[in-house]
Amino acid sequence: MNILVPLADLDYGEEEEQAVLDVIHTRWLTMGSVTQEFERRFAEFVGAKHAIAVSNATEALHLACLAVGVGASPKDEVILPSLTFVATANAVLYTGAQVRFADILGLRELNISPEDVEMKITPHTKAIIAVHYGGYACRMPEILEIASYLGLAVIEDAAHAPGAQLNHRNLGTWGDAGCFSFFSNKNMATGEGGMLVTNREDVAAKVRLLRSHGMTSLTWDRHQGHAYSYDVVALGYNYRIDEIRSALGLAQLKKLKANNVRRQAITWRYWKGLNDWRKFGLEFPFQRTAGHPSYHIFPMLLPKAADRSLFIEHMKRAGVQTSIHYPPIHCFSYYRARYPGLKLPLTEEAAAREITLPLYPTMKTEDVELVIGAANEALAYALK
Ligand SMILES: Cc1ncc(COP(=O)(O)O)c(C=O)c1O
Repeated sequence: MNILVPLADLDYGEEEEQAVLDVIHTRWLTMGSVTQEFERRFAEFVGAKHAIAVSNATEALHLACLAVGVGASPKDEVILPSLTFVATANAVLYTGAQVRFADILGLRELNISPEDVEMKITPHTKAIIAVHYGGYACRMPEILEIASYLGLAVIEDAAHAPGAQLNHRNLGTWGDAGCFSFFSNKNMATGEGGMLVTNREDVAAKVRLLRSHGMTSLTWDRHQGHAYSYDVVALGYNYRIDEIRSALGLAQLKKLKANNVRRQAITWRYWKGLNDWRKFGLEFPFQRTAGHPSYHIFPMLLPKAADRSLFIEHMKRAGVQTSIHYPPIHCFSYYRARYPGLKLPLTEEAAAREITLPLYPTMKTEDVELVIGAANEALAYALK
């Protein structure tokens, strides 16, 4: 099948090529001064005291959990949504703690429900992970209120949300730690890559330590002559990023604001171009969401009567790639075996009806129109 419009594409050009070449010319590839510069710029951009680069967001989430004390006891529990990528839950299990899945707010707001979070709290609850689905803000004021009342930590999975804001405050800076992804299909892409931001000194210190084997000094410091030896004071990991990816991150950060604006324009065009189907039960989640999203993906929920596989089949024939965000985590075999019998009605309905259309900043206007034309036909076909 010939793909005319992919689901996502990179905005890469001479800036990224030059950034990589510049690093190669320095002859220092592992974590060093370019990474420090990337961390500084990212922290400044989101308005956080600390930004710590790692090699993916899964590691950022794992370190965030450890840094706020999750897993100190095997009975610890973390509440999170099931309508997210499996990494959000895996990161909790790596620490030895348990996950407790909460349902979403509804079909028009696919983020975690603060009310269901409250229902899932037990004496073992240690933290809440708020995932900003598609770069649309969770109900952070309500989540923080619940957390502060009970002394729980809040971690934001901001993998989709660089540059997104709620009440003029960047997502990722509301909780104790925020975790961003720079995977290839994300708003900022470095191949693999991630960033943890925090305003807490203790969290920053712990994350820096655990990122590199719990060592008290880094290869870079020793290279600079700042340290001659090191101690190992904790069981850490090799979660370091490298200079090439950090250089790509710096180049991508410069483009982020403009690219998010372009994503917004495409999203609004989709809403308009498919609006007539709302009469037949098509839902546009987050159309009325507060704040400034980062419009990472374009999700919609097909009418209940529509056959999703027919919709996907028609889009494929038209050369348009689509995807599903997400098969819920609690329905995967591994998680079903671990947490049998769990039901999350809203998550399950949204997941059964969701379809994601292509969205990326370099998408040409004619490609957006091609997708709208194909989706209109596909909806008619799927509803027959
Ligand atoms: C919501 C969410 N959380 C976490 C991750 C994990 O990010 P990474 O691939 O950088 O580990 C992803 C990646 O797709 C994601 O979409």
